[in-house]
Amino acid sequence: MSLKSTWEFDNIVKDINNNDKFQDLKGELHHGISRYEHSMRVAKWTYLVTKNTKLNYEDATRGALLHDFYTDDDTKNYNTKETLKFHPEIALLNAKKYFDINNKQENIIASHMYPLGVAKPKYVESWIISAIDKGVAVYEMYRYKASLVMGIWIIFIFNLISIQR
Ligand SMILES: [Fe+2]
Ligand SMILES: [Fe+2]
Repeated sequence: MSLKSTWEFDNIVKDINNNDKFQDLKGELHHGISRYEHSMRVAKWTYLVTKNTKLNYEDATRGALLHDFYTDDDTKNYNTKETLKFHPEIALLNAKKYFDINNKQENIIASHMYPLGVAKPKYVESWIISAIDKGVAVYEMYRYKASLVMGIWIIFIFNLISIQR
């Protein structure tokens, strides 16, 4: 499930992609890959779906790219459960700090974890991104995390057999 970038997509996300803090997401682990790769995948699917359904694809794509705009350092004072619930608000604070965010983009970021997070989706685009994020997360967990766990098990079993000999 990898999508090609188009000139228009690249243009919509250009300033976000050039931001140093956003580039830091390349070093943040998320679903067995980087948070950057996850955010890009969600943004590309969002662009494809919202453009083809004649929705506000520019706001949707930008909101989607920024939906997980946080580093592990930003959430170091939270446990896993709290991070799950509050990271949309932290992502929104970061997004507001570095970019001009309108109401729709704000709601997309804040509500993407619905019903787990605090905010509720108010726009069709917000519902779509919340759904795409969940679909992409399941795909990534299965595709990357499952293969990682499987790899560890294979090494473990291999070592066990070697010890038995
Ligand atoms: Fe998230
Ligand atoms: Fe996400």
